[in-house]
Amino acid sequence: MAEPPKVRVKTRLPTRPFPPNVERKPIRTERLIIRPFTEDDLDGIYALRTQPEVMYFTAVGRIDPSKDETRTSYLARYLPPNDIRTYHNVLCLASTGEIIGTGGMPKVDLIFGWPEIAYMLKREYWGQGYATEFLRAFTEHWWTLPRSEVEIEVAADSVNGSEEVPEMLSAMADEENPGSKHVLEKAGFQEFTRWIEPDTREGVIDDITLVGFVLKSPDRKD
Ligand SMILES: CC(C)(COP(=O)(O)OP(=O)(O)OC[C@H]1O[C@@H](n2cnc3c(N)ncnc32)[C@H](O)[C@@H]1OP(=O)(O)O)[C@@H](O)C(=O)NCCC(=O)NCCS
Repeated sequence: MAEPPKVRVKTRLPTRPFPPNVERKPIRTERLIIRPFTEDDLDGIYALRTQPEVMYFTAVGRIDPSKDETRTSYLARYLPPNDIRTYHNVLCLASTGEIIGTGGMPKVDLIFGWPEIAYMLKREYWGQGYATEFLRAFTEHWWTLPRSEVEIEVAADSVNGSEEVPEMLSAMADEENPGSKHVLEKAGFQEFTRWIEPDTREGVIDDITLVGFVLKSPDRKD
C-alpha cells in the first residue's frame, strides 16, 4: 500500500484503548443491530466471507479458504484480548438476528492516519439501503465516544496546513466500486485524494485506482 505524504497535527480522537466488547452497547437503527463480535458469530461471518462478490472488494480479493482461517485470521482480531485495539462490529437484521455484514473501524494500521471506516454486506442484501443506514448510525455514535487530545501523523492532503485540526474519520474505496463511494458520499464523506497502485488482489495483475475520503467531525467550523 502506497503511503501518502504525512504531516504531524494536534487533534482529538476517541480515547485508546477502546472499551472492551463487553462494555459496548449495541447500536439500534430502524432495521439493524450493530453490535460487537462474539465467538458464536463464526458461522455467520464465514458465510459472509465466503461470498466471492463481497470479498472481491477486499485487499486480498478472495474468499476465506476455511472456517479455521476465518476464526484465526479474522474473528480473533475482534475478540478479547484484541477487541480494545479496534472498533469493529457485526451487522444483524433486527427482525431475525441474521448476520448480514460487518462494519466499523477494523484496522490498526491506518493509511491516512485518521481512523478508517470499512463495511461489507452479504450479496443478497445489497441495494436496500443497509450500508447507508449502518454508516449514518455508526458515524453518529463515533462522535459520542470519550475523547483525548493527541498528536498524530495524518495524510497531508486531508488537512489545511494548520498545526491544530478538528478530527476526521477516513475511508478508502476502489474507484470501480460506485456503490461504496455513493454510500460514503450520502453519509457526508468527501473525496480528498486518489492514486493508482498495483492491485494486491490474488490473480489480478492490473493497477487499481483507490479513492480516499474524509468526514469532518460535526464540531468542525471551516
Ligand atoms: C458497498 C456495499 C457495502 C453497499 O451496500 P448497500 O447496502 O448495497 O448500499 P446502499 O443500498 O445503502 O447504497 C448504495 C447506493 O449506491 C448506489 N449504487 C449501487 N451500485 C451502483 C452503481 N453500480 N453505480 C452507481 N450507484 C450505485 C445505489 O443506488 C445506492 O444509492 P441510492 O440509495 O442513492 O439509490 C455493498 O455493495 C458491499 O458489501 N459490497 C462488497 C464489499 C465492499 O465493497 N465494501 C466496501 C469496501 S470500500
